[in-house]
Amino acid sequence: SSSVLISPSILAADFVRLADEIAAVEQAGADLLHIDVMDGHFVPNLTIGPPVIESIKKVTKLPLDVHLMITNADTFIPEFVAAGANYITVHVEACPHLHRTIQSIKERGVKAGVTLNPATPVSVLQEILADVDLVLVMSVNPGFGGQKFIPSVLKKIVAIREMLDRLQSRALLEVDGGVKPDNAAQIIAAGATVLVAGSAIFASRDYAGTIAALRTAGQP
Ligand code: DX5
Ligand code: ZN
Repeated sequence: SSSVLISPSILAADFVRLADEIAAVEQAGADLLHIDVMDGHFVPNLTIGPPVIESIKKVTKLPLDVHLMITNADTFIPEFVAAGANYITVHVEACPHLHRTIQSIKERGVKAGVTLNPATPVSVLQEILADVDLVLVMSVNPGFGGQKFIPSVLKKIVAIREMLDRLQSRALLEVDGGVKPDNAAQIIAAGATVLVAGSAIFASRDYAGTIAALRTAGQP
């Protein structure tokens, strides 16, 4: 559908030229900017934190879609809000007091998202779905860009789409990991409304062409 949004993951950008890379995807039609925050505990990798996000905020008008892969999200939410996050998404596997965490994000005026690892069943969403602005379905095990899409995740997207529709929820349904122009049609057909793409966009020569190909995948 034409309402699909594209959120380039800067993890695959050239960090030395980060401002230029962000301007390039903004110019190329990106709708959001996906920022992967990793802590070396929840996931076996380290990336960036609030100071870099604060700097990014100054060079783009794109809404910042901040994906926290950290064990102590509650401690850092005020800092990510202050840095300019528009969406903050937390992992259900890392948040023992998920309702409190979601409320803490929302009461600061920021959109709140929840995300599930590939092996986490959709049933964990039952009691929180009505409270969230976004659901992020991981289609790789988080920690690294450039991994292969796990096809069994498609049926989770379908199931979450049904749960959201039943609630008449307008929450975004975002998919992250291994998203490419050649699998985007299936992901959109399953019910996704936001596609994250890192390597597919930043390793391509034509950012605008790749973003358009992702957005219109499966359209006649
Ligand atoms: C993985 C990150 C993803 C990653 C996507 O832990 O959450 O956002 O950057 O990269 P690609 O699109 O290359 O799989
Ligand atoms: Zn991500």
